[in-house]
Amino acid sequence: MPITLPPMNRRRFMTGTLGGIVTGLFHPVWGAESEILSQDIWAFLSDTHIPGDRNKTGGTPAIKPVEHLVKIRTDVLSGEIGKPGGLIVSGDCVYLQGLPDDYKTLLEEFAPFRNAGISVHFVMGNHDNRQAFLNAAAQSTGESKSNSSRTKIPNRLYSIIETPKANFFLLDSLEKTNHTPGLFGEEQLQWLADELDSRKDKPAILVAHHNPDYSANIVKAPGALQDTAAFFDRIRERKQVKAYFYGHTHTWKTLRMNGIHMVNIPATAWRFDQTQPFAWVFLKLKDNGMSLTLRSIDSEHPKHNEVLDLAWR
Ligand SMILES: [Fe+2]
Repeated sequence: MPITLPPMNRRRFMTGTLGGIVTGLFHPVWGAESEILSQDIWAFLSDTHIPGDRNKTGGTPAIKPVEHLVKIRTDVLSGEIGKPGGLIVSGDCVYLQGLPDDYKTLLEEFAPFRNAGISVHFVMGNHDNRQAFLNAAAQSTGESKSNSSRTKIPNRLYSIIETPKANFFLLDSLEKTNHTPGLFGEEQLQWLADELDSRKDKPAILVAHHNPDYSANIVKAPGALQDTAAFFDRIRERKQVKAYFYGHTHTWKTLRMNGIHMVNIPATAWRFDQTQPFAWVFLKLKDNGMSLTLRSIDSEHPKHNEVLDLAWR
């Protein structure tokens, strides 16, 4: 099921569909100026919390999520540290309740990325609403109709993006809109395991919204991924899994679990800890790992331009 908005005005090809699930969703891009955008370079954003009304504020102290996104968009499109071929938002794309107007504004604000030849992928968070998103996406891409019943697993939006150096698995941990905890569910975890088993030869990078419960005691992490243990059971021994990217906590943090890089993408909208940056993350895939560069809205933030070179297990 596509949760992807392809670049506009560019020639591209899709690598195929299978039982309603689109695999190899990445669209190789040829720019009008014969510029080929790299499939090794990605922009990661999270918790954009875009409201329908561009002037609406949120968080404490109050900020305008659209204003933040515009600043980040300018930085991404400047290509100052490299031009991404794709962009992934790891959930909480819209304000709080997943309203139709929120998605209209969200897609309008992301159109400049698509106009620049960048494929844009949205992951669902606990403040998203699948059907509202799909309706808006169908309108934006000119499809007559789009609904989540087309997916093999009902009420989940997930996909695989195949690129030369890694496969990205976009997962859906939205359990209920405006309800904090997340859940993959057994069906999606089995799908993930099966798809990983058929792609053993290439590094796998998993992306979803919710943070794992690192305490292994969900009572202590009520807002985290409720089926963390089952998730880890599926990925621990599948050595092609190299990284898990997530948002939700509005925090920039990396750590390792069983050699897997756990990367917490910070929010572009409000923060819960005032020392955290409002930022996006520039990812460059390498043959044996990846490098991450944090790009803060505030260039004076101590983490701005922090570069992490992370080797694959
Ligand atoms: Fe959020």
